[in-house]
Amino acid sequence: MEIVRFEEELSKSKTEAVIVPFYEDRIPSPAVEFLGIDRIPGPVSVTGFTGKKGQVFRTMDATGNQMQLWVGLGRESEYSPETFRRSYSSAYSCLRNSKIRECLIILPGTGNADEAFEAAYILKLTVYSFDEFRSEKTSVDLKKVYIATGERQEIIDRAVSVADATNFTRNLANLPPSRGTPSLFEDRAREIRGLKITVLGRDDFIRMGMGGMEGVSRAAKEPAKMIIIEHGSSDEKPVMIVGKGITFDSGGISIKPADNMDEMKFDKCGASTVLGLMKLASDLKLRKHIVGIMPLTENLPGGNAYKPGDILKHYNGKTSEVLSTDAEGRLILADALAYGVEKYNPVAVIDLATLTGACVIALGNNIAGLMGNDRDLKEKIKKASERSWEKVWEMPIDDDFRDQIKSEVADIKNTGGKEGGAETAGAFLEHFVNGRPWVHLDIAGTAWTQTKTAKADYLPKGATGFGVRLLYEFLGS
Ligand code: BES
Ligand code: MN
Ligand code: ZN
Repeated sequence: MEIVRFEEELSKSKTEAVIVPFYEDRIPSPAVEFLGIDRIPGPVSVTGFTGKKGQVFRTMDATGNQMQLWVGLGRESEYSPETFRRSYSSAYSCLRNSKIRECLIILPGTGNADEAFEAAYILKLTVYSFDEFRSEKTSVDLKKVYIATGERQEIIDRAVSVADATNFTRNLANLPPSRGTPSLFEDRAREIRGLKITVLGRDDFIRMGMGGMEGVSRAAKEPAKMIIIEHGSSDEKPVMIVGKGITFDSGGISIKPADNMDEMKFDKCGASTVLGLMKLASDLKLRKHIVGIMPLTENLPGGNAYKPGDILKHYNGKTSEVLSTDAEGRLILADALAYGVEKYNPVAVIDLATLTGACVIALGNNIAGLMGNDRDLKEKIKKASERSWEKVWEMPIDDDFRDQIKSEVADIKNTGGKEGGAETAGAFLEHFVNGRPWVHLDIAGTAWTQTKTAKADYLPKGATGFGVRLLYEFLGS
């Protein structure tokens, strides 16, 4: 699918389909220019179309040769980028499983330069489907899309790159657990051009004192790996991005209930986002120094598995008492963070992890938990999140939460109980960043959706690719 800007007079467009925006209380001028009329064609009693937020109405033009998709944007005074994204996404979803090959997108023309970017980005996210394993593919016949904008083509091209990276992340994260293995991550990482890559295995975990990686991966059948990839010049201190990569989380000896255990294939979403971002950095040749770290392993039970009661010693020498082998994410992140911080001396550390069910209960499926130790970095991530569709909400790490994970037999324990479960997980990770500016994003709720929790048509069932755009916006600022 090719997306290009449309520079001719709107009324001259002969594309098979056109997307036309309407507010409830005004017709945006590009739509007026296209339709040649300045009110919503009616009667409403027949069309039912009033321009309400998210409404989509399909009709044909007078010649019968062009399909029009009218999109409602709601009241102009209540308009926001998210209204635009969700409404256009509803219209775009009509293009899936249709035979339409070309489409013109008319923008509301709010004077906002981001409209063209969002239009292209959301289109690519909406027509995405994960059908690698289906014999019947979702057909998207769309070959050429025109966006009516005065912006440069380069903006559209960037949006396409960001969306492609997000869809790449979705594809990785959606892989079945016996396919989406640590070795597969390594293969994909090696395919990205221009990156330096280091891969550590079990022998290295033992030799280097990465007790978290060693413990969690003990009963894994698939070889566990810590993959470190580096983009950009090493004369400037890097930004370090770490993503939890549990390729399947059974809970280990503290085994999870059977119902919905399949969903724990999504426990690799953090690592998938890291790889998607690194691919994007390479595609866009971002002039930034970025280190991506993906601790990857299965969490399985077995006669040789690590056990509740075990004490593990992490890379920075701190020990943790394992109360639940199901609180495994923080154990592998501990080593990844401590190692990365020591080796790369980063200016900022961001980790993404499907870390706790508690975060899903607290914030739901559309907001990620944000924690950290540095006001400035937290503000930057919040700012980036205002630009992407990916919402974050700050949760506190205070001394009470820190106390809650003190252990009597080790330095800390890997769970502080149900209460404040997301925050105590944050307090655990804090021990491993050596005071470096750090933000932790708990993406357990936002990284993947069930159909019932999907809030917009651009979020498919399964992996959402949460974090790729957010980090892109962050790095760009
Ligand atoms: N991967 C899970 C967290 C999770 C749960 C993600 C539900 C998405 C949906 C994590 O490893 C886990 O099992 N966490 C435990 C921690 C507890 C044992 C302290 C949890 O949240 O129940
Ligand atoms: Mn777990
Ligand atoms: Zn997990």
